[in-house]
Amino acid sequence: MNDFLRRMLFLPEQASTFARDLDRLHFFVILTTFVMSFLVGTTAILFFVRFRRRSETQTTPHIEPPMWLEALFVTIPLSFFLLWFFVGFNEFVRQQTPPADAMDVYVMGKKWMWKFAYPDGPNAINVLRVPAGRNVRLLMTSRDVIHSFYVPEFRIKKDVLPGRYTDQWFNAVAPGRFQILCAEYCGAGHSVMRGEVIVMKPEEYETWLALQKRGALASRQDGSPTEIEGTPALGNLVEQGKRVAAEKGCLKCHSIDGTRHIGPTWLDLYHRRERLTTGAFIDADEAYLTRSMMDPAAEIVDGYQPVMPGYEGKLTAPETSALVEYIKSLQSDAVRTGPSEGPSYAPLRNN
Ligand code: CUA
Repeated sequence: MNDFLRRMLFLPEQASTFARDLDRLHFFVILTTFVMSFLVGTTAILFFVRFRRRSETQTTPHIEPPMWLEALFVTIPLSFFLLWFFVGFNEFVRQQTPPADAMDVYVMGKKWMWKFAYPDGPNAINVLRVPAGRNVRLLMTSRDVIHSFYVPEFRIKKDVLPGRYTDQWFNAVAPGRFQILCAEYCGAGHSVMRGEVIVMKPEEYETWLALQKRGALASRQDGSPTEIEGTPALGNLVEQGKRVAAEKGCLKCHSIDGTRHIGPTWLDLYHRRERLTTGAFIDADEAYLTRSMMDPAAEIVDGYQPVMPGYEGKLTAPETSALVEYIKSLQSDAVRTGPSEGPSYAPLRNN
């Protein structure tokens, strides 16, 4: 019955503990109103025919219904509405009250991507991994405008506001992958502001988390890929890159928010088509990014001075790859929809 109605109403899968209860109320309201509208409608049509005007002089008799009938007509519909209100209010309170044992994940919305940070672990962009069957609380804020975190399968939707934290909790019932949508118009990239929740088996999640904590860097060095289900453990690499960038002073000349500085900004730099002083165009891929760290003067982007010192020998290979991963993570458009397919944070862009 539940599944039949769900399909009839084109509702998505019920993937959280909220979904079933919320849908039940939904079905209750829809069925009641449907049945009542049907009864009222057919009665009206029936009466049009049955009591139609038969002659020019015909008058309608004056009928006064008894008090109890009037009372019934008021109290029955009212009791239904009140019942829906109390059931709905109950569910609302439940959704607004995260359980004390919930695990926290920080969420930051910005044009046009979702960033996730685990208090004791990695960062991730657009991919939120959670264990199945565990209460998860999202602490959400925005860096620019109002967004709204929406996972239809979980039946959760909550505004994400700049300068303020909102929270939302859920408990995903089974492993699976679900789309995260932004449900508040936030500019040109609103429709591509998508992410993915990957609900993992608890054991797999623990393994993944442990792997992230240990750091993907070490395993990168010896060349053995650290992968779970084809997903490289990149969270930490991006984190490392961020640290390296701060330590080595990269951020003194390169901004990460798109502002022009002494050097080109790192925002959306990955796979950007850059015009060089020679007039040639290059694709800012991994190779170019690495080259410009090692021998910056070789290919200078048009409009900039060749002032950057070479970092050959000053950056270790892991540091370089961490920086590259960090730069790759700095994407403002978040066009990716199948996050764990690719080997990296590369957008689905090809130029
Ligand atoms: Cu963010 Cu719409």
